Amino acid sequence: MKKVTIIGAGNVGATIAMKIFEKDLADIALIDVVEGLAEGKALDMKESAPIKGHNANIRGYTKDYSAAEGSDIVIITAGITRKPGMSRDDLLSKNMQIVEDVVKEVVKFASESILIMVSNPLDAMCHVAYEVSGFQRRRVIGMAGVLDSIRFCTFIAEELNISVENVQALVLGGHGDSMVPLPRYTTVCGMPIIQLINKDKIEKLIKRTREGGAEIVSLLKTGSAYYAPAAATVEMVEAILKDKKKILPCSVLLKGEYGIEDVFLGVPVKLGQKGAEDIIEIDLNKEEIEALHNSAEHVRRLVEKMKQLRTNRT
Ligand code: NAI
Ligand code: 2OP
Repeated sequence: MKKVTIIGAGNVGATIAMKIFEKDLADIALIDVVEGLAEGKALDMKESAPIKGHNANIRGYTKDYSAAEGSDIVIITAGITRKPGMSRDDLLSKNMQIVEDVVKEVVKFASESILIMVSNPLDAMCHVAYEVSGFQRRRVIGMAGVLDSIRFCTFIAEELNISVENVQALVLGGHGDSMVPLPRYTTVCGMPIIQLINKDKIEKLIKRTREGGAEIVSLLKTGSAYYAPAAATVEMVEAILKDKKKILPCSVLLKGEYGIEDVFLGVPVKLGQKGAEDIIEIDLNKEEIEALHNSAEHVRRLVEKMKQLRTNRT
């Protein structure tokens, strides 16, 4: 059986654990800093197994990172969430510290694992994980593009009153206001949506996608989305564990692809057992490439801000 460790047993972490457990994808170690939280949730999930007969092992731990030993994948969801009115970037300073601490522990025990980052601000936290872990770039992958793309799919299907199964959407760029939904690469049963939905309506769907996270935050009031984020993460986990070679939009370190150097950004990536096995460069027009570069600059500014925060700390 493969093994997945999830750090952070909050809303996203626990929901990911439940989905992996119910699919029997891997044995699961769930770790949190709060005494008993991960143990309690993992035991509760384990006790659900007799109904459908899940055979995977699941166990929770408090701050015991040795539990991550032998993991094929480690998913990092530890961190704080935003409150209404906050942006993901407002989480930078606190989550940077948490992710640094967590990744230091993970590399001690799971040095061969693939890291899937979830904590926000996502692309910046990928930079932290990459620097602290020293892992090759194919082994540090951020989850955001799948989530943003499935949100876009959902809104398109709703608009056209068709099955979500017919829609394939592509959203690239950073996980924030500068994300880059690509209507030219978004199709309904092979037909480009630009032939099916008028420009104004597409703009509205794009705006809703960009603000998709904030829409949920403003409804929940405490905490942010977790069902769709967990589903998106598990899609990536399954592609890696089953060596599917599946192309999904993920945040990876770009080294010249799309003319962008040394920035984590959402682009189409081939996921297999080695992690991010290939970065696919699709043709983008002038407007799209400008939007992608603008998004990269946004991430770069956050990385600069983190450098300042580190300098101020010392
Ligand atoms: P949550 O508050 O429900 O859970 C976070 C958990 O992390 C808590 O249980 C907390 O005790 C734990 N934690 C904090 N510091 C820790 C440490 N040092 N070691 C281990 N565990 C620690 O939050 P939720 O909803 O699960 O979200 C988690 C993070 O994921 C947030 O930063 C959120 O913004 C982000 N997120 C990112 C998404 C994306 O698309 N990339 C989507 C959804 C959430
Ligand atoms: C979202 O987009 C919180 O980033 C997360 O829902």
